[in-house]
Amino acid sequence: MTYTTVLTETRERVGIVTLNRPQAMNAFNATMLGELFDAMEAFDKDENIGALVVTGNEKAFAAGADIKEMADATPFQMITEARVDVWDRIRGIKKPVIAAVSGWALGGGCEFVLSCDMVIASESAKFGQPEITIGIIPGAGGTQRLARLIGKNLTMEMVINNRTLSAAEALQFGLANRVVPVEGYLDAAVAFAEEIASRAPMAVRMAKDAVNAAFETTLTEGLKAEKRNFYPLFSTEDQKEGMQAFIEKRKPNWKGK
Ligand code: CAA
Repeated sequence: MTYTTVLTETRERVGIVTLNRPQAMNAFNATMLGELFDAMEAFDKDENIGALVVTGNEKAFAAGADIKEMADATPFQMITEARVDVWDRIRGIKKPVIAAVSGWALGGGCEFVLSCDMVIASESAKFGQPEITIGIIPGAGGTQRLARLIGKNLTMEMVINNRTLSAAEALQFGLANRVVPVEGYLDAAVAFAEEIASRAPMAVRMAKDAVNAAFETTLTEGLKAEKRNFYPLFSTEDQKEGMQAFIEKRKPNWKGK
C-alpha cells in the first residue's frame, strides 16, 4: 500500500506508522487521518505484528486537526463528512497502540495520544488542547478522555485556558508511561512495544479489551467483562504452554493460538 502522508515500517513484531506532513506540523487533514487509520488497521490484521507504534517527528507529533481545511466548514459539513467521527476508528484497533511523542501534541494530536493505550514521551513533548484559542472546543474526545485520565480541574484548565503539559507533567499526571531523551525516543518506544509484542497475542488482546471496559461501565459490569475475557483464555494453546513453561522453568514458546 502506498501512502502520501504517513510512512510505515515494521521492526520485528512491531508495526510503526509515522505521521509525515512536517510542513504542517503533522496537522491531520482528511487524507492523513484516512491513511493513518488504514495503516493501523492493516497492521492490526497482520498476524506477524503484535503491537503498533504511532509517531511524528522530533518537533511535532501532531498539531491537531488541519485548521486551514476546517476554517470555512459549516456544521452540516462537519456532520455529513464525519470529520470528527472518523477519529473513532482507533477504538476498533485490537492490538496495543503506543504513541511515541516528541514536540507538540496539540488539539486532535493530543486527543489521538489519549486514544492510544500507552505513551512514551520524549523530554521535549508538550501536550495541550488549544482549541479555545481558535473559538472551538475539542471534538475528538479531549474533554472526556482527559477528564477521566488526569481529573476535572486540570482538564478544565487545559481546555478552557490553553494550559499545556510538559513531558514531566504528563508523566506526573498519568498521561505518559515513560519520559525518555529526545535522541532515540522512537527506538525506546519500539523497544517498549517489542516487549509487549513478544507476549501471548490472545491474552494481550483480551487484556486490552478488559482494561478498556473499566472506562465504559460500572465496577460490577466491568468485573463481569473481565471474567468473560479471562475464562476463554483457558481454551488457548498459549495458556497451556505458558503454565507448562513456568512449571518447567523455561521461556514459553507462544503459538498465537
Ligand atoms: N492546521 C493547519 N496548519 C498548521 C497547524 C494546524 N493545526 N499547525 C501548524 N500548522 C502549519 C502552520 O500554519 C505553518 O504553515 P505555513 O508555514 O504554511 O505558515 C506550519 O504548520 C508551521 O507552523 P508554525 O509556523 O505555526 O510553527 P511554530 O513552531 O511557530 O508553532 C505550533 C508550532 C505551536 C504547533 C503552532 O503551529 C500552533 O499553535 N498550531 C495550531 C495548534 C492548534 O490550534 N491545534 C488545534 C486544532 S483544532 C482541533 O484539533 C480540533 C479537534 O478537536 C479535532
